[in-house]
Amino acid sequence: MTDRAANDPAATLSLLEDSLLTSIADQCPVLLTEALSEEAMQAFRSVFPHVTVLPPTRQTIEGVLEAAAHARVIVATVKYVLDREFFQTLPASVEILALYSAGYGHVDLEAAHKRGLKVINTPNVLADSVADLAMALLLGTARRIVEGIDLMRSGGWAGFSPTLLLGRELRGQVLGIYGMGQIGREISVRAQGFGMNVAYRNRSELPRELEAGARYIPDEKEFLGCCDVLLLSAPHTAETHKFLNRERIAQMKPGAVVVNVSRGELVDDDALIEALASGHIAAAGLDVYANEPDIDRRYLATRNVLPLPHIGSATVEARAAMADALVEGIERILIGEQAQNAL
Ligand code: DGY
Repeated sequence: MTDRAANDPAATLSLLEDSLLTSIADQCPVLLTEALSEEAMQAFRSVFPHVTVLPPTRQTIEGVLEAAAHARVIVATVKYVLDREFFQTLPASVEILALYSAGYGHVDLEAAHKRGLKVINTPNVLADSVADLAMALLLGTARRIVEGIDLMRSGGWAGFSPTLLLGRELRGQVLGIYGMGQIGREISVRAQGFGMNVAYRNRSELPRELEAGARYIPDEKEFLGCCDVLLLSAPHTAETHKFLNRERIAQMKPGAVVVNVSRGELVDDDALIEALASGHIAAAGLDVYANEPDIDRRYLATRNVLPLPHIGSATVEARAAMADALVEGIERILIGEQAQNAL
């Protein structure tokens, strides 16, 4: 026992917990469905001596199920749709499902719980990163960045022109945020920094201090009609599935812009692609798509779409914090406590 522990009962307890945890972690094989960033891998390896990473050739549901026979914990990314059948087939050794994402619309939680699994995710650590990327999409669509890059790369730029690629300033535009959780609120703060007026729609009105200058619009028609830019940041649920459909797009102002940083399933692709072609929607900034990575290819052939490959939380900081949140949640479950990020 160290001097500190000898004089301090709390330190003694924490040392005991540490050694208990070390021996529990030693018997807790962890399966990662794919390699994480260096920092995130280190977060797992520093606690769990037995970490296995599925090789790229085995990164399928079948590959996960096969490798899971030796694991107590599975760390899964959004790439895997975990449905009822998955949980019915999952080997009995697996006790904890740690989702390396804030979103969990791809997981049949009811089936997971029925199978007796503890499920955790990564809320609260990626809002800054996703909000930063949302601003990149807002600015990129407003200033026609894709067309600019295409022009440069094609060699077709003939020099400065007073009429070339005129965009719009963000100042004074109305940003309508659909889904005012932590990510939506971080976007709101940033957008107001650019002089935008923020309106939002949410399951319920937020307290003033969380609204932080944004205006709640309970009426959907009024909300859609006021947006110069509609930003989707709500989770994918039965209620939000294909929220942005033909009918709602028709309620938006001609020339409005759509930005999606939540899940592609919130959008009816046919409806949005039609509206982009007609110009009713002037541009779209998309980081997420239905059926990734086999997305609707028409988005990639459309001049007024700024497409990104689901990189909202792809920063060194967020990806490391996501790993830390999962490691902490797993540790708590292993010592019989409630994980704060339990689903
Ligand atoms: C999330 O955490 O939900 C992001 O979309 C990355 O998976």
